[in-house]
Amino acid sequence: MDHTSNAVTKAIVTGHTRGLGAAIVDALLLRGIDVLGLSRSRRAPVTHGARQPGAFAEIELDLSDSGALGQWLAGGGLAEFVRGAERAVLINNAGTLGPVGPSASQPPDEVGRAVALNVTAPLMLSGAFSAATANLPDRRIAHVSSGAARNPYAGWTIYCATKAALDHHARAASLDGEPGLRIVSLAPGVIDTDMQAQIRSVDDDRFPLRERFVQMKQEGQLTSPEQAAGKFVDYLLSDAFGQTPIADVRSL
Ligand SMILES: NC(=O)c1ccc[n+]([C@@H]2O[C@H](COP(=O)([O-])OP(=O)(O)OC[C@H]3O[C@@H](n4cnc5c(N)ncnc54)[C@H](OP(=O)(O)O)[C@@H]3O)[C@@H](O)[C@H]2O)c1
Repeated sequence: MDHTSNAVTKAIVTGHTRGLGAAIVDALLLRGIDVLGLSRSRRAPVTHGARQPGAFAEIELDLSDSGALGQWLAGGGLAEFVRGAERAVLINNAGTLGPVGPSASQPPDEVGRAVALNVTAPLMLSGAFSAATANLPDRRIAHVSSGAARNPYAGWTIYCATKAALDHHARAASLDGEPGLRIVSLAPGVIDTDMQAQIRSVDDDRFPLRERFVQMKQEGQLTSPEQAAGKFVDYLLSDAFGQTPIADVRSL
């Protein structure tokens, strides 16, 4: 599929209300793709849906609550959205840094919620998406990964481990050979979002590399969400997508 294609395409985007996810939604709508957003809140104000060719819908769902996600999936919400599509994509974008600092300082309930959001939800959604789109010749899953999946950082055990899990899921799933299904775990670069503000606000003793991120912001080295989303969506819709299960927006 490329973005000049006329096939009716539908996209599910998690974490669509802010940051990279919101910019991905705009990029998809601009290309005439229908979008369903899943986040805890709604995206306000939604002016783009009225102006652009794609249609936009959203569901309020806490993706760190695996029971609630399971209930929504059992209710057929995802299958209903993709009905009528000729092509479908799932972008597992919602994520959290989780508790930052050495393991002994990590509240167990926060660890549980971070793993549920960063790993359990993308894997549940991937399975349900694959089942709901089984009759489509072109269906694509993009996990939003991170450089932290591929390089360890002190203080980021939960973030590193959960993003590495997405990478390995994509590697294994790409071996299953499900007809028409392509999957890539894609690192998006360092983007100027709320998550980066959170990274800069952590104490140095919990995250020794904090100063490096402060410097990157000061030196204007962060990518805008719009730039990152444009490259992400171009790649997602290109023929190259799925040729390798692991990729990085910075080297596309
Ligand atoms: N920013 C970077 O430099 C960077 C670098 C590498 C990878 N990433 C990855 O890129 C993705 C997006 O990051 P971002 O920087 O755009 O993050 P962000 O600004 O913190 O936005 C996170 C999005 O996820 C949603 N979300 C958070 N918790 C949720 C929950 N429990 N259930 C449902 N939705 C939830 C938020 O919406 P609600 O609050 O409305 O729920 C929001 O739309 C993440 O997977 C992140 O790990 C980011």
